[in-house]
Order: sequence, then C-alpha cells, then structure tokens
Amino acid sequence: MIYLDNAASSWPKPPQVEESMVEVLRDYGANPGRSGHQLAAKAADTIYQIRSQLAKLFHVKNPNDIVFTQNATESLNLGLKGYLKSGDHVVTTSFEHNSVRRPLEYLREFGVEISYVSGAIDGKLSAQDIEQAIRENTKLIVVTHASNLTGSILPIEELGKLAHKKNIRFMVDASQTAGYCPIDVEAMKIDLLAFTGHKSLYGPQGTGGLYIHPELDLVPLLHGGTGGHSELIEQPPVRPDRYESGTRNTVGIAGLGAGVRFIEETGLDVIRKHEEHLTDFLMEEMGRVKGLTIYGPEKGHPRCPIVSFSIDGFDASEIGFILDTHYQIAVRAGLHCSPLAHETIGTIEGGLVRASLGFFNTKNHIEEFVRALRDIVS
Ligand SMILES: Cc1ncc(COP(=O)(O)O)c(C=O)c1O
Repeated sequence: MIYLDNAASSWPKPPQVEESMVEVLRDYGANPGRSGHQLAAKAADTIYQIRSQLAKLFHVKNPNDIVFTQNATESLNLGLKGYLKSGDHVVTTSFEHNSVRRPLEYLREFGVEISYVSGAIDGKLSAQDIEQAIRENTKLIVVTHASNLTGSILPIEELGKLAHKKNIRFMVDASQTAGYCPIDVEAMKIDLLAFTGHKSLYGPQGTGGLYIHPELDLVPLLHGGTGGHSELIEQPPVRPDRYESGTRNTVGIAGLGAGVRFIEETGLDVIRKHEEHLTDFLMEEMGRVKGLTIYGPEKGHPRCPIVSFSIDGFDASEIGFILDTHYQIAVRAGLHCSPLAHETIGTIEGGLVRASLGFFNTKNHIEEFVRALRDIVS
C-alpha cells in the first residue's frame, strides 16, 4: 500500500514508537500518579519527561502548562469551552476544522458571538482581514496554523502580535503543524496551543495536548480523580491535575514521546525539507496530468505537505475509491471535516481528493501515484 493520508494520521510510525509503547505495557504499566510504589512512580516520571520534551519543542517554560488530552479535538474543546463566556466575541476563520467550528457553534447557544473571516480562494488569509473583524468584546482569536484542506500556512506570528497588541487571547490549532513547523509559544504570543499526537508528531492515536498560558484559568472540561489533592471536594487548582481528571494514557503518551524524540534526533528542519521537496515534486508531476486542478497556494508559498485536487469528469469519492481498490494507494476524498474551507475555495459540491505526505514517503511513491492518476484519466 502507498500511504498518502498523513494529514489524517501519519503512518507508518518510526519503529521506536511501537517499542516504547510495548516497553510500558510489558515493564511498568502501572497507574501514573495514583499509587506511591516504584512502578507507578516510573509511569508518572515517563509522562513528566514527555511533558518536558513537548515543552522544549514548543518553547514552553513550565512543562506543567501542557496538559495531555486524547486528541486535538479534546484540546480545542477544553480551550474554547473553558475560556469563552456569554457575551464574549471570538474571531476565527473559514479554514477551521469542525473541531473548532462545532464547539464554537455550540457556544453560540450560550451567548458567545462568532465572526468567521473568509480566506482567499488560494488558501491565504492576512492579519489585516482578522483585524477588521475585531470588536470591543472580542476575547479570543482562534485560527488553524495550517488548513487541512489547502495546506496553506497562516501568518501565526503576525496574528499573535495583533492579538497581543489588542489585548485579546490567541489560540492556535496546530493539528497539521506540530512536528512540521517550528512553534514558539513565547515568540508567537500564543496563549492556547492545541496539538494532536497522531499526525506530524508521529505518536499513536489517542494522544494530544493543550498548552495553557500560565495566567489563564480555564473551566475544566472534566471533573474527577487526579491522584493528588484527594481531600478537596472541588477540582484542584494545580496544573496539570486541574485539567487531567482520570488516568492518563501512559502507553500512548510513551509512544508520543518516542515520536517527538524521533523528530529531535532527525531534526525538524530535515523532516520539513524532505517533505517540502516531495510536495514540490508532487505538485509538478500532478500539474502535468490532463484535466487535474490543484487547489491551495501556488508553488513557493508556505504550504504543509497537503495537495488537494479534482479531476474533470470524476467525483472525488470515485477517484479515492479507484486509487484504494485498484492501485493500493490511500488518500482521503470528501469534505475533510472542513466544509467552510470547501465553501471558501468553491468545492463544497463534490469535495476534493487530498494527498498528504509524511517523512516516510519517497519519490517512488509519488511517481506511482501520478502514474495511477494518468491511468485513471485515460
Ligand atoms: C486542522 C485540524 N484540526 C483539528 C483536527 C482534529 O484532530 P484530532 O482528530 O486529533 O482530534 C484535525 C484532524 O484532522 C485537523 O486537521
């Protein structure tokens, strides 16, 4: 199988991911932070080490300002529902995934006002567009770092500066960029950073996290057992316990740690260069297929390794089906959980086919993929 669906979940994983997960299961799969014995302490220490690795990756000073969740969706829900209140206004974009849009639409029922700033057809969006939507009661700007449809990378630094200047909190959905783009929460003035473990951080599914600025006190999404502070009736104020009720996924987090170690050892810039190079090659080769249209920013503009396309005379789902069943090539066809983004670029009717690359893809994969597309067209 040729796997070109890394924007959904990266695969394959570096071998050390599986090894780390097996090691926890086999050697010390006790409950982290609940009991005082050696095995529990080792499990808790593993989680803390990985919290620290992530803190280093995102330039977070205190590792306890990062809380582990199951995925980006949970992180986004925690940030949005925990921060926004009735009467607050939030500015967001038309490129957001349903994991931002749906919690926001839910909050609308409780008096939160929302402005969606529409991006351009080529996936670009400027800080000036966002600035125009700011009102007196704007409390949050929430944007995806990169569109999971067009791959376009948004100007996060500029948006962070804008939010900071206007005294508005800034939340970033880094689902498509954590592990691919450098992220510095201090320099980029990010107050809430939601990330997922199973995409470009190379961890397993069921892992993710949220960085929460130390000055922010969110309403927890869940209330319950935290191991420590058991005498308190209410949720403890200390981090990360306040936001981590219930036993953490030690096995998954160990795998995520191995994914992050793989990035550290390989070098984020090496990973990115490889994927940029492959994306350029993919776009060049696809550009020569008759009747094929590529969406998103033109070559040379910031883009994640995502290339969405249509072919004249074919349904997106038909192409996805043929690639899967006839050519053993995995892509994703449809609306990609981002209907607003499809509306923005004019593809809401039939959707698109998305090919997304990862570090383990090769030029050979791309050649085979483009050969299959040519074959389908002819
Ligand atoms: C931009 C974006 N946000 C949020 C998500 C949700 O991620 P998860 O499935 O890990 O919750 C995705 C996943 O496809 C995404 O691409």
